[in-house]
Amino acid sequence: MARIIDGKVVAAELRNRVAGEVARVKSQHDLTPGLAVLLVGNDPASEVYVRSKHAQTQAAGMASFEHKLPTDVTQAELLALILKLNRDPAVHGILVQLPLPGPLNAEAVIHAIDPAKDVDGLHPSNAGRLAGGFAALTPCTPLGCILLTKSVHSSLEGMSAIVIGRSNLVGRPLVQLLLNQNVTVTIAHSRSRDLPQLIRRVDLVYAAVGRPELVRGDWIKPGATVIDVGINRTAAEGGKTRLVGDVAFHEALDIAGAITPVPGGVGQMTVACLLANTLRAACAIAGLPNPAV
Ligand code: GUN
Repeated sequence: MARIIDGKVVAAELRNRVAGEVARVKSQHDLTPGLAVLLVGNDPASEVYVRSKHAQTQAAGMASFEHKLPTDVTQAELLALILKLNRDPAVHGILVQLPLPGPLNAEAVIHAIDPAKDVDGLHPSNAGRLAGGFAALTPCTPLGCILLTKSVHSSLEGMSAIVIGRSNLVGRPLVQLLLNQNVTVTIAHSRSRDLPQLIRRVDLVYAAVGRPELVRGDWIKPGATVIDVGINRTAAEGGKTRLVGDVAFHEALDIAGAITPVPGGVGQMTVACLLANTLRAACAIAGLPNPAV
């Protein structure tokens, strides 16, 4: 029976370290890290995420600036707000909640964010720096995946991994972070052939394709660590829907060595990593050393 990796516990530990470092930079350097979150429209799931980001930012002792914009906001208005936040000395992190509705061009919006304040790590400057092996602000969900893996294995050096999924938000940056940990990485995606065989060979499985329960228990190497990034809502059964990951959790439980649940795994880590990135950005902008988070 696999060990269940408790994302709540790992995320709470990270939030505590961030809050401690925020208190230190406030008292020693009179610096209050500030995060601006932009939400366009009224997608219910996005509203839940943004509320949670706001509450957790304040709980860590940081300043939180919420900007709710109507669905019909123009590209020019959105870009003007980003340029204003780029210049605002109280703002160290800018996050535009994705997906953006309708005709708005997410790529242009992300390009407009000052890379020093790009706490989502999505600006090509940060993505390129990460791919080049240079210091960079890095997307939050892949950072969370690494921390969860390290709660099981103190060193990942020499291990083998598969990343299933190649999105800019998760799969691609996760590959780079694993390389930085000296992991041997296979990159797979929806068109990969022989996925079960590829998965069966590796010590670490990262599933981030958004296909409910795609990865079956008997595809997994006995004892492997499984990090499930998927959050999929099932069709209603008896009037009720369920959240499931990209891994068939109950099958995998008998075979894996450790596994993250959905919910309660990776999802818990993303906002905690966002707080850590905001603190890192604030320290870098102020010319202070990297915080100890
Ligand atoms: N929507 C879902 N996850 C994320 C994320 O990590 N960042 C942003 N900006 N939007 C998201």
